[in-house]
Amino acid sequence: MDVWILGSAQAVAVKAADLCTELIQRKPDARLGLATGTTPQALYAELIRRNQRGRLSFSRVETFNLDEYLGIGPEHPRSFHRAMRESLFDLVDIDPSNAHLPAGDCDDPATEAEAYEALIGARGGIDLQILGIGRNGHIGFNEPGSSLGSRTRVKTLSRATLRDNQLGEPDFEAPSMAITMGIATILDAGALLVLATGAAKAPAVAAALEGPLSASCPASAIQLHPRATVLLDPEAAAQLRLTEYYALVDRARRRLAADSS
Ligand code: GLP
Repeated sequence: MDVWILGSAQAVAVKAADLCTELIQRKPDARLGLATGTTPQALYAELIRRNQRGRLSFSRVETFNLDEYLGIGPEHPRSFHRAMRESLFDLVDIDPSNAHLPAGDCDDPATEAEAYEALIGARGGIDLQILGIGRNGHIGFNEPGSSLGSRTRVKTLSRATLRDNQLGEPDFEAPSMAITMGIATILDAGALLVLATGAAKAPAVAAALEGPLSASCPASAIQLHPRATVLLDPEAAAQLRLTEYYALVDRARRRLAADSS
């Protein structure tokens, strides 16, 4: 794991945007795995800025979101379809037919989940999967207890996730189930880009990066991926034990970059 403890949440967004930009410039038809939630919003804002300045084009990029609530359609104000359109798709030059999410309003969720998993495979797999971490250690909607070998399927959301997703909107009753990529689906991506910011994420980040590999903390599965980059602000990194080592790696990285320039 390549762990970067950056100076601020904005520095996390800029570094994440740099990594996405590098990939898309190298491979204009890159397949990106996307996440919803608060954490990637600053990254999306940065990608929109770069797109609008003509530095980055999504015209051939294809995207696959991690998850969607079950029982609500793409126009529902709290659907992840809508959130993604409003925070990224409508504001960049992506072809809407290349932006995929599971259909939350499908008639047969199990079949929809299987079809979504098959679509990712048929398109050639995800090059870079962006991930946030839930306060309970979930990735996508893989709640604690999810099999580390799981594939895209229907999951029941935990009370903790329902509470977190309810925040700020006491009148909205969040759906209690979702379709989510599985942990094995996520681990199939060519590379992972994990983002966490803010003190509320510190315990989950410590468990994910330095705790045991366990279904009790689905984000610990990141440890299995040979190409996982983790970008943290100081608050989210506050409970890590190996910070001295991460700083050492960072210094070595800077030395190498200076030598090669
Ligand atoms: C949500 C999503 C996840 C997201 C996580 C953290 O429920 N299903 O993909 O990473 O919770 O969200 P946030 O970034 O808002 O803390």
